[in-house]
This record gives sequence, C-alpha cells and structure tokens, in this order.
Amino acid sequence: MSTTVVVGCQWGDEGKGKLVDMLSGQADLVVRYQGGDNAGHTVIHDGQTFRLHLIPSGILYPGVMCILADGMVINPRVLLEEMAGFREKNVDLSELMISANAHLIMPYHITLDKAREERLGKTQIGTTCRGIGPAYADKATRSGIRADALLDDDILERAIRTALEEKNLLLEKVYGQPPLKAEPIIESYAEYGRLLRDHIADTSRTIHDAIADGRRVLFESAQGALLDINHGTYPYVTSSSPLSANACVSAGIGPMTISRVIGVVKAYQTRVGAGPFPTELFDDVGETLTQVGCEFGTTTGRRRRCGWLDGVALRYVARINGVTEWALTKLDVLSGLEAIKVCVAYRVGGAKVDRFPMTVTQFSASEPIFEELVGWAEPLDEIRHFDDLPGAARDYVKYIERWTGIPITYISIGPSRDQIIVRER
Ligand code: GDP
Ligand code: IMO
Ligand code: MG
Repeated sequence: MSTTVVVGCQWGDEGKGKLVDMLSGQADLVVRYQGGDNAGHTVIHDGQTFRLHLIPSGILYPGVMCILADGMVINPRVLLEEMAGFREKNVDLSELMISANAHLIMPYHITLDKAREERLGKTQIGTTCRGIGPAYADKATRSGIRADALLDDDILERAIRTALEEKNLLLEKVYGQPPLKAEPIIESYAEYGRLLRDHIADTSRTIHDAIADGRRVLFESAQGALLDINHGTYPYVTSSSPLSANACVSAGIGPMTISRVIGVVKAYQTRVGAGPFPTELFDDVGETLTQVGCEFGTTTGRRRRCGWLDGVALRYVARINGVTEWALTKLDVLSGLEAIKVCVAYRVGGAKVDRFPMTVTQFSASEPIFEELVGWAEPLDEIRHFDDLPGAARDYVKYIERWTGIPITYISIGPSRDQIIVRER
C-alpha cells in the first residue's frame, strides 16, 4: 500500500470511513489530516456500527497506530467521549496519538459558529455548528490554542484568559450574547489535559520515520474536495483543505512521499447544508436516493440533498487532487432505477460549458446537461466480483472510468467492510 491518501471527492459523506476501515487491514499507520468533529465517518463491522468524528477509521484494527495530525481542530471533550465509546467496546487505544500542534476547539468557537450562522439568516452556510470555522480562523490569526497547551496548566490558563478577553467582547458587543466565564473552561480543559496528555506527541516525526522505515501509511481526509476552503464552492465550504496535497502539509511530511491517491466518489451526488448543487433532484428519484441510500447526516442528522453524479465536477476534483484511482461507493443504491443520468456539461447563460466554472456565481447559475444510461433492476449487495455485476452496472462503472481516464479499483456495494469488489490495478 505504501503511502496512500484517501480523499473525499464530492461534498463529503462519500463513504471514506468504510473505505479507510477496509484498507486499514493493510496499513501500519492511519492519519486523519484535517477537519474536526464536523466529520462523521460510519464504519460497520461484524454488525456493529461505529460513528467516528475525530478518531481515524483505522482504529478497529489492533496494532494499527492512529494519528490525529497537526492540521486538525480537535474538541477534546468530543474526543474523550469517542474514546470512552471505544473503550466500552474493548477497542485498544494505546496507539492513538494527537499532534501537539493540532488546534483545540474551545467553547467560544462553538458559540461564535452558532451566532454567526444566526446572524447570516437566510444566507447561512449551514455549518455543523461544531466551532470549526472560528477555530481555523483563530489558527490563521495566531490566536488559537494548541494541544500542547494541555501539557501545562499555567500556559493553558493564561491562553484561555487571554482568548476570553477578546472573545467576550465579540460575544457581548457584536452578537449580544452573555460573556463566558474563564474558570469553568480552565477547569474542564485542565482535566482534558490530564486525560489526554499521554497521547500528545510529535506526530510529524512519527509519520516521517514510519515512511522512512517502509511502513504503510494511510491518510484519511474528512469532508470532500468541493468543500475545500481554496478550491471548493466558496463560501459554501468548510474551513480546511481536504485535498490530497494537504495531507502532506497537515501531517508535516514532504510531497514526494505520496504514492497513491484514492478518490472516494459516491455513485450519485449528495450535499448537506447550503450551496450550489446543479444536479440536485427534487423529484421521486431524489427521494428514492435519500431513502434507499439512508442519506441522513452522521454528525447532525440532517437530510442530505441528493442528485445525479456530476461528471464535470468529477473531472475537476480528479485534477485538483491528482487522483490515481477511484473508489466508487453506494453503487447498490442505484439498483431499481430505470435510467441513470450523469452530468456531462453545464448550460450557463445560454452557453454550453464543459469545464468546472471559474467562479461560484457561474457554478450557481449552471444548469446540468445530462447523458442518460440504462439502469438495472438486480440488487448488488451480495456480489463480490466485477464480472458478476449486471451488464448495465458494469457499463456505468466503465463509463466513469472512460469519462475521467482514471481506473475504479474499488466498488462498494453495501455499508459493511466485506461488501466490496476489488479490481486489479
Ligand atoms: P464518510 O463521511 O465519507 O465516511 O461517509 P458517511 O459515513 O458519512 O456516509 C456514508 C454512509 O453510507 C454511511 O452510513 C455508510 O455506512 C454508508 N455506506 C458506505 N458505503 C456504502 C455502500 O457502498 N452502499 C451503501 N448502501 N451504503 C454505504
Ligand atoms: P465528512 O467527513 C458532509 C459541510 C456542512 C456545511 C459546510 C461547513 O463526514 O464527509 P463546517 O461545520 O465544516 O463549518 O460546515 O461543510 N460539512 C460536511 N458535509 N460531510 C462532512 O464531513 C462535512 N463536514 C462539513 O454541512 O455545509
Ligand atoms: Mg460523513
């Protein structure tokens, strides 16, 4: 496996957790490289469902080291809850490491996230209200608090008091909210520090050494490329970069170490929260995708918007991620549809456009132009070999390969670890 990045290639929820869990059987190290508990990665194994927000999806394999890298924003309360859930299920957490450089999500980040969304009203982004944006904003303005502060009570207390001087002004004067008291925050974060300090480490070095020793490292993105802060549908994006190249920046390793980039793409398109979505369906087919695909958010429970696969966006995300192969997920959900559509171009103001538009204004005004493929009736969830798929399902897979010029090496046909068709590379 060498050094592999698994990157979401739509608006998140592509099934990254399932794929990373499956691939972790062949990994020594699994690294989550960005985002925070806005992510919700579902892993189903032996009939048990695990919903991971922060811990990498490799955690279910004994002996696999799991790292929360520098580029993450971590709510320690949520992390401890997640760890407690795993301990109850006898999952070994001794090899879980947190980068000392990762930023902490503080209570005021969550309050500010909610307050900003409320203020935006109709134009709100539909964030997960987990404090992600405000935490990354503090990182950029150099006023954030990092995990290393949890190692020293005095530093922690000073950092919290300093931060609150500014945050309370913002809360009171701009958002009309009550100020937050320092003492309970200091007390609870000091306690989190006591509980987490054995896991805080120089993870960049660990990852570097592992790669140098020829160990197999798997990087797991949260969110997806179209939610990228630089290249996504800004401002309807998250506040970090899920792109494959950011695995290196966020983990603190050089760019030449990555040998595979697996783009995870759902057989159709979904989006949670606001923002343009040209192929969105508002009819019975959209409803079928929501219900059959169980398209309800892992983190917020919100209904995911559903639509046809956007082929134009797919070529775009392949380019910005340097995807070397695809993992196509949820192909089983399309069983029973008479026809399957793929968006092959947009109509923008009367003109046909076959490239991803330069501006989000153009993308918002894009109407999809579809190509129609024949559907199939048979269920796929028991199939384990490509040749056993119905002809029309094979044709859909080959169509996406031809369209993008990139092979599909994994086809997921159900939520469980074993519901996968692996094809030769
Ligand atoms: P992630 O955020 O990319 O890890 O994806 P989520 O876990 O949020 O959402 C994917 C959902 O689809 C989860 O409920 C998975 O259990 C489920 N899932 C993953 N792969 C498949 C698949 O091939 N078929 C079906 N039916 N469900 C899948
Ligand atoms: P996983 O890792 C789907 C969306 C939110 C919102 C926007 C900004 O499970 O694929 P944020 O809280 O990040 O400031 O919200 O991004 N969003 C996701 N959508 N899957 C996710 O993660 C997401 N994480 C954030 O719905 O539109
Ligand atoms: Mg998810």
